[in-house]
Amino acid sequence: MPWTLERCRNLVRPALTEAVGRLHPWAAEMTAHALGWDVPGHPSGTAGQGKGVRQALTVLGAEAVGAPAAVAVNGAVAVELVHTFSLLHDDIMDGDETRRGRPALWKAYGTGPAVLAGDALFALAVGVLAETPGPHATTAVRKLTAALHDLVRGQADDLLFESRPWYGPEAVGRTEYLAMAEAKTGALLGCAVALGAVLGGAEPATVAALDRFGRHLGTAFQAVDDLLGLWGSPRDTGKPVHGDLRRAKKTLPVLAALESAGPDARRLAALLADPGPLDADRAARAADLVARAGGRDAALAEATRHLALADACLTDVPLHGTATAELRALRAFLLGRRG
Ligand code: IPE
Ligand code: MG
Ligand code: MG
Repeated sequence: MPWTLERCRNLVRPALTEAVGRLHPWAAEMTAHALGWDVPGHPSGTAGQGKGVRQALTVLGAEAVGAPAAVAVNGAVAVELVHTFSLLHDDIMDGDETRRGRPALWKAYGTGPAVLAGDALFALAVGVLAETPGPHATTAVRKLTAALHDLVRGQADDLLFESRPWYGPEAVGRTEYLAMAEAKTGALLGCAVALGAVLGGAEPATVAALDRFGRHLGTAFQAVDDLLGLWGSPRDTGKPVHGDLRRAKKTLPVLAALESAGPDARRLAALLADPGPLDADRAARAADLVARAGGRDAALAEATRHLALADACLTDVPLHGTATAELRALRAFLLGRRG
């Protein structure tokens, strides 16, 4: 599977480089920082550069509907730029100081410049997609903007959930969590694979099935992201550990642990209710209680369930074999990832 990701990154890289080269030099420099291009000694595929899952989904979406990979390139560039923009702004919203193993852009350049770089990438993404040769550019741009509306909706709920209680009638339920995760993360993964199909000239039913595939994949991806935020190694993830807990983010393992209502869940609830600062020791204790109350297993089970739902979407419509097998392989890779 890393081979598929590398193949797609190599295919997309020249167009991505060309697009970034059109930016104001300062925005281009910040983008290079965000993409890990300016960091020597980071071979592609490490935490330093990102995995390129979204651009690969776009390429595989085109191939799965029988189109050549080349038709997907503008779409792949657009989703990668949108993803990068969303991470720049997300780190500001979440107050996270590291990304891809180095200072987050807002720490390295300041919040104002990082907001601006995100804006620049957003505009560039829409422009690149709108310029796609052939008859599908308008449909593709509509698809991207619809996904962005969902992403904003998901990010809004993610932020609002921070001030909701951990338990009681106002607590965030699992259904609300899943809707938020699908919107903030699944919408762009769905859009990524759907854009490949759109640019490959697929029927609307095929585009919709691939969109659903990506959304389920994204929900699973977010559940794994939540797990890595609690038990991952910053060396592998390139991100801080326990940041979600400190901001009272309503992540799936914690919600599932509290749902279990056993003695460890009660201890966890008491610890989270303590108004004192959640220092490293208390955060580690909380993560331990989440695991003991079954939150880790429950989040993995939810991720596995969504990967099965994703798989089912691929059988709904006629698709081409090799790329579809690569889409399937991507599921297992994402579940087992460490970063
Ligand atoms: C990020 O969600 C979603 C978007 C950027 C739209 P998270 O905040 O959970 O992701 P990480 O852990 O910072 O990467
Ligand atoms: Mg974040
Ligand atoms: Mg966030």
